[in-house]
Amino acid sequence: MSIITTNIELALTQLQQGNIVAIPTETVYGLAGNADNEDAVRKIYALKNRPLNHPLIMHVAQDWDLSQWVSTIPDYAKILMQHFWPGPLTLVFQSQAKRVSPSITGGQATVAIRCPKHPIAQTLLSRLGMPLVAPSANPFGKVSPTTAQHVQKSFADSDLLILDGGRCEVGIESTIIAATHPDAYQILRPGMIDESALRRLLPGRELNEFTTLRVPGRLAKHYQPEKTLYCFPDQQRMLQFCQQQAQKPYVLSFAKNTVFKDYPGYQLPDNADMTAFELYFQLRRADQSDASLLVIELPPDTSDWRAVRERIMKAGQTKA
Ligand code: TXA
Ligand code: MG
Repeated sequence: MSIITTNIELALTQLQQGNIVAIPTETVYGLAGNADNEDAVRKIYALKNRPLNHPLIMHVAQDWDLSQWVSTIPDYAKILMQHFWPGPLTLVFQSQAKRVSPSITGGQATVAIRCPKHPIAQTLLSRLGMPLVAPSANPFGKVSPTTAQHVQKSFADSDLLILDGGRCEVGIESTIIAATHPDAYQILRPGMIDESALRRLLPGRELNEFTTLRVPGRLAKHYQPEKTLYCFPDQQRMLQFCQQQAQKPYVLSFAKNTVFKDYPGYQLPDNADMTAFELYFQLRRADQSDASLLVIELPPDTSDWRAVRERIMKAGQTKA
């Protein structure tokens, strides 16, 4: 049976022994294991039921020297690290092939590195003195957890220690950037550090043409709730759809309460950061409700909303 704790010493002992511990980060909870322990890495894939060709992010403490895992850090990446680390930004570098296990990188010549901001994650990393690999702490393809209780719900029967660090303040996964090209970066997964923030910091450095970099884990479906979820670009269509259903759907909308007042649901905040904070939390609440069908309104296709919009579109099916 999984247990929730706030005992950092206990978590450290488990990690040192090669066991998996669910840990808080500022984005979502992660299933963490010692990156130097092949057995621990294998346990993570098994627990998550994750295909082996979906590589893992290596988490490091602030100010660690990355040269033992990374072969080159382009200048623009140094600027990004200075500006956004610790924080919700993952950088994919050319790796020191002999130092990073192929089970972490999916056998590629690149490695993804993130320096999380959550103080508990930082404490664990600096006390351990070695990186932790940590995918989001959900079964493969499902909604990521933003509380310790969410993790426990998914892994109730596993012998898993869950370190409680409160609710994650960002609420969706980190932005992932390829820093493998010497002069230009590419966004591989949108996050709350968005395109316009990156452009402001690094004008003219975004790689526009498609690279040859293999990007595993870019699935059409991901972050999925248990119940069927339909996404709508506009409220009118969404309301019409709801009125046609025999049973009332659960409605996640930006509309003021009056429009969907006859439906169970939640009014999404009119702000991308706050919606990111609420999104997975509210999708899980919707799954717990009596409704058998969920509907959600899509935010606009602008830089600040892109990450939230992408998560919603992958979680559900878009209705035009
Ligand atoms: O916010 C986050 O990033 C969270 C917290 C726990 O840190 N972690 C997370 O991990 O979202 P995960 O495993 O759910 O997603 C990692 C993504 C996957 O899509 C994977 O394919 C990609 O990172 N990735 C990992 N290594 C890569 C590499 N070398 N090249 C390209 N993509 C990589
Ligand atoms: Mg994930």
